[in-house]
Amino acid sequence: MTTSQHTQMPTPPDFFVPLTRMPPVLPAARKAELVYKIKALLKEQNAVLVAHYYVDAELQALAEETGGYIADSLEMARFGKAHSATTLVVAGVRFMGETAKILSQNKRVLMPTLEATCSLDLSCPAQTFSDFCDQHPDYSVVVYANTSAAVKARADWVVTSSIAVDVVAHLTAQGKKVLWAPDKYLGQYVERVTGADMLRWQGACVVHEEFKSQGIAQLKLQHPEAGILVHPESPAEVIAMADVVGSTTQLIKAAAQLPHPTFIVATDRGIFYKMQQAAPDKLLLEAPTGGTSATCQSCAHCPWMAMNTLENLAQTLETGNNEIWVDPAIGERAMIPLNRMLDFAKTRQSAAKSPA
Ligand code: 13P
Ligand code: SF4
Repeated sequence: MTTSQHTQMPTPPDFFVPLTRMPPVLPAARKAELVYKIKALLKEQNAVLVAHYYVDAELQALAEETGGYIADSLEMARFGKAHSATTLVVAGVRFMGETAKILSQNKRVLMPTLEATCSLDLSCPAQTFSDFCDQHPDYSVVVYANTSAAVKARADWVVTSSIAVDVVAHLTAQGKKVLWAPDKYLGQYVERVTGADMLRWQGACVVHEEFKSQGIAQLKLQHPEAGILVHPESPAEVIAMADVVGSTTQLIKAAAQLPHPTFIVATDRGIFYKMQQAAPDKLLLEAPTGGTSATCQSCAHCPWMAMNTLENLAQTLETGNNEIWVDPAIGERAMIPLNRMLDFAKTRQSAAKSPA
């Protein structure tokens, strides 16, 4: 029996989840004008655009065309830190901008909107979390990247979905117990794979939580040839159906490398832009969410990622508004577990590359 079964976890607060709105369809001439303007401003300001796979395809294409980067949250952090640009423009959600700032304190970090947050971040208020950690001093505190700078500052480790299993397995091998926050599904998955002794916060991603195993099973009956790709923020019964469970980058690689001609994909549909590029001959199907009764709130697209548009990106570059600011003391403290993760990832990578 794991420790989590004995401990009362704090209840995450209620918060408002906006409905996902698709960006307005712009006339071609307006779109071309904005793209032209953004490209010129990026150059003029020695700025680079770093986009997450879940933002609108037009923003992803722009990152590609301007020497920027499209990535999962771990690679976004790495890229921004290593890049020589003096301004990082992060198209994604708030924690991604904050992470970029923490790792590159001497760079200006802009975001198309500061409203773009994340249900996991909202589920984990820094003070409640810190108090809970204080009550469990014998646990290593591991937090998902989808958290505020202040929550990261209270952690021993930060992890992203691409490295969570490896980090927790590493801690478990050292005989450590893990206090995990905030995603309950990812935590449950990590606990199952690693056998860790974990206390799990009870947050969830509003997008992945909506994937339905029954709907996926029905779709699989119509496409028996399909492989199933699942992001680990999804519920356990959805993860149980997966051929591959992984971060956004890992799922894109799987689509390219696995032999299946078709994939059912349980993650934000923004990923289809890069996934289809990586696997041009394959049929990609969205995993069902709330179904035909329209009970899904996000319907496989993050409401906060969807707030990034060509228009607010151009505006930010024009005005310099929406600069990310992180309290320097919090930033200094949060940098420790973030760098621990990046160093750990680097060591893993070089170990994987070196001949046995
Ligand atoms: P990745 O680290 O896999 O990109 O996930 C970030 C995220 O917010 C998923 O919902
Ligand atoms: Fe957060 Fe989910 Fe949106 Fe990712 S998809 S940013 S986890 S709400």
